[in-house]
Amino acid sequence: MNKIGVLTSGGDSPGMNAAVRAVVRCGINEGLEVYGIYRGFEGLIDGEIEKMERVSVADILQRGGTILKTARSERFMTEEGQTRAVNMLKTFGIEGLVIIGGDGSFRGGADLTKKGISVMGIPGTIDNDLAYTDCTIGFDTAVNTVLEAITKIRDTSSANERTTVIEVMGRACGDIALYSGLGGGAEFVLIPEVKSDFNDVCKKVVQGVNRGKQHSIIIKAEGYPMKSDNLVKGINEYTGRETKLVVLSYLQRGGSPTLQDRKIATLCGAKAIELLKNDSTSKAIGVAGGKIVEYDLFEALEQKHVIDLEMYNLIDILSR
Ligand code: F6P
Repeated sequence: MNKIGVLTSGGDSPGMNAAVRAVVRCGINEGLEVYGIYRGFEGLIDGEIEKMERVSVADILQRGGTILKTARSERFMTEEGQTRAVNMLKTFGIEGLVIIGGDGSFRGGADLTKKGISVMGIPGTIDNDLAYTDCTIGFDTAVNTVLEAITKIRDTSSANERTTVIEVMGRACGDIALYSGLGGGAEFVLIPEVKSDFNDVCKKVVQGVNRGKQHSIIIKAEGYPMKSDNLVKGINEYTGRETKLVVLSYLQRGGSPTLQDRKIATLCGAKAIELLKNDSTSKAIGVAGGKIVEYDLFEALEQKHVIDLEMYNLIDILSR
């Protein structure tokens, strides 16, 4: 293998740049030509491809977002789009591809594998929804951003003696809500994986008031099947307490990556090069018990993410 490509796809996550940097520099170190593909699969179809040098990735380790830009590609979902993508790789002589992204990006990589391209998947998403790895790149930074927000919101929530519902991202995965709820001392966490009774949420708020706590923080994952506006209205009507909504939204996706995200991104990038150099078949690279590991890409995609129920129950116990 002489030429490889690297792209970022789906929602950007802090640490993607660190992974790109490691892929480019470790690749060049191994004598490979490394090509940056812009705007994910969209750019691949359109041939937005550029040879990268060591200097191309200078000063990006600490930056959120992705210098390669990202996109969600409808065209790549079609047979025609995928054929064009493969032809584009052939035109550039690119035999191996490093894909940094989440579940959807990995599935795109699996499609390319079926068409003869060797793919290395690096888990870049704030959602932490890839089951085969202990954590995804960007999750730690996103949770810390949410924690910072909770800390600030708690100040004003306490000063005004009100309840605040904080909606966080995560798609169908409740990990951002769960971890930030634990670290931020939330009264209640609503996640898609656990069916909660609305009355229990309100009782928690009232329980707090009865023991002298005048403010409450409720963390709601965006994937929880109740509209945040309705939740806020319902809590207000049930408890008689002023209730506000804060939707953290894209704030969670930006920012300088934490050490953990920089570290796993860098190690995963280096592993991708090692595997490509050894002509490995397509793999999903991740973290297990603090070590960088790789699994068959297809097998990795079959694993189902399981929520940590002990952590969920602990949040309940601590906030009684
Ligand atoms: O996958 C990352 C994520 O931020 C999710 O948490 C969120 O649901 C989604 O992306 C938002 O996507 P978009 O950037 O397309 O609005």
